[in-house]
Amino acid sequence: MAGEEHEFGGQHTEIKLELVEKYLRAYMSALRKKFNRLWYIDAFAGTGSRTVRVEARDGDLFDAPAPARTETRRGSARIALDVTPAFDRLIFMDASAEHCTALQELKAAYPSRDITILQGDANRLIQDQIKWAGWKSTRAVMFLDPYGMEVEWDTLKAVAETRAIDVWYLFSLSGLYRQAARNINSVDDAKRRALTRMLGTDEWERELYSPIRSAQSLLEGLEPIEVRQRNADVAGLEAYVKRRIETIFPLVLEPFPLPPNSRPQRFSLFFAVSNRSTAATTLARRFGNHILASGRSSHVRSR
Ligand SMILES: C[S@@+](CC[C@H](N)C(=O)[O-])C[C@H]1O[C@@H](n2cnc3c(N)ncnc32)[C@H](O)[C@@H]1O
Repeated sequence: MAGEEHEFGGQHTEIKLELVEKYLRAYMSALRKKFNRLWYIDAFAGTGSRTVRVEARDGDLFDAPAPARTETRRGSARIALDVTPAFDRLIFMDASAEHCTALQELKAAYPSRDITILQGDANRLIQDQIKWAGWKSTRAVMFLDPYGMEVEWDTLKAVAETRAIDVWYLFSLSGLYRQAARNINSVDDAKRRALTRMLGTDEWERELYSPIRSAQSLLEGLEPIEVRQRNADVAGLEAYVKRRIETIFPLVLEPFPLPPNSRPQRFSLFFAVSNRSTAATTLARRFGNHILASGRSSHVRSR
């Protein structure tokens, strides 16, 4: 693609896209006959492709040696365009002008498809525009795939209120544990605001931190100084995020850890369903769990 080259992620990018693609295929196969307005919304769409570096390989009995090279692979926007049965409409958002230019080129390569490209902050676009009476007869899958902590709680809330959108959300666990430092005194006002914006409440401080007695003051027989430390480890933080998302979505599945086998875990891939009908949640739970379980059996080594 002549547009900008977009290089990101590693093995976890492949897995994330594999899981989302499987869901898009299952979703379209199951709902195609029931709905005539099925949309895909990629709120952090990128360029439609991505560049990956492939390491050099030594030769062996079967294969010749291969030098290091770069390869272009499909990004989420392109993957969604290739899903069959096809989505009726695809909406791609990205804050970057260059990425939107690349998305325009992608659109030109699919002239018969209904594709809308919106340049801007996905939070503003979603919060300002997602409310719509048409959701009664339209269903959508949304992919929230930011680099870090860009997704605001109010964005998730606006999506949940449509009651029509299933969401795959790559949550930056590393963003969370970096901002929510071990010792609360290291969490300055900017970090507090970022955490509250992402988690939708300032209750995180009470829930994630507990007082401990300073060892130094105990040793020296001084008046104890109260120090508050984070009581949740990475798994505890992930569980807290899940409980938060469950306050606004009727169904949230166990997230997929990324990367799957190396520590520290950096992301949690969440799947959440906004439709409250039993039929919708039953179907989404079945597909979502099946896809997440197949991802676990192929990518997560037992510990
Ligand atoms: C991880 S990349 C997305 C990759 C894409 N899902 C793919 O598979 O090709 C994140 C994208 O989000 C965009 N971005 C960052 N902040 C944003 C924001 N606030 N609103 C919309 N897009 C944003 C970046 O320009 C970048 O293209």
